[in-house]
Amino acid sequence: MKQIIVGNWKMNGMTADAAKAVDDMGAAMGQDVSGAQVVICPPFTQLALLGPKLREHGIALGAQDCHQDPCGAHTGDIAASMLRDLGVEYVILGHSERRRDHNELDETVREKAVAAAAAGLTPIVCVGENADQRSTGDSQETVGWQIQGSLPQGFSGIVAYEPVWAIGSGTAASQQDIADMTQFIREELVRQFGDAGKTIKILYGGSVNGRNAADILPIANVGGALVGNASLAAETFMPIVRAAV
Ligand code: G3H
Repeated sequence: MKQIIVGNWKMNGMTADAAKAVDDMGAAMGQDVSGAQVVICPPFTQLALLGPKLREHGIALGAQDCHQDPCGAHTGDIAASMLRDLGVEYVILGHSERRRDHNELDETVREKAVAAAAAGLTPIVCVGENADQRSTGDSQETVGWQIQGSLPQGFSGIVAYEPVWAIGSGTAASQQDIADMTQFIREELVRQFGDAGKTIKILYGGSVNGRNAADILPIANVGGALVGNASLAAETFMPIVRAAV
């Protein structure tokens, strides 16, 4: 199965810069990246503009969140069906920055994952311990609870393991830490979903870059990467895509 390299642009991307980044990525897509499914998740404001350009280059369009309800009185929110209507295929849910900035709880993330799947989107559900939980030795317990709480019955999307302390820090988790936690996540997924849990893709996210991708992507249970800063420009993103095995 192909690895998935997902670029999360977060709250970055004015029109001219976003279009240039996609043009540059498109120009760099070729045979040497056939081992990867590439997904770019720009801010909502750029989805309509970038979707056709990305598709032209074989890059899928993703979004960074959706609401759990199908429509209605939710000012400022976006429904999963609206994203699908724009050609969006993937949606990131429960990113630690949304859990932090919008007080998103596991239950809300689970409802969003249901809504996303119902609209035909592939949810990418984020889990990961923060620095305090790590320092008290509670990483696996934290991630275990998040998996149990955030993934709905019959989940068939993607799980992204993002240790919060590694995000934007410039230092990724060690290969051993990633191997141990993704093995733990795999066991949790099998415990929760039986055989179906064996094939759910697990991504690693947190300071992935062109220098460490070749060490991280071949780790046994790692099926790709969720990339923040390094996904904003082709010159930093494409080396990660090329490292996909
Ligand atoms: O969604 C992406 C992650 O939060 C990782 O961000 O690559 O900038 O550390 P980063």
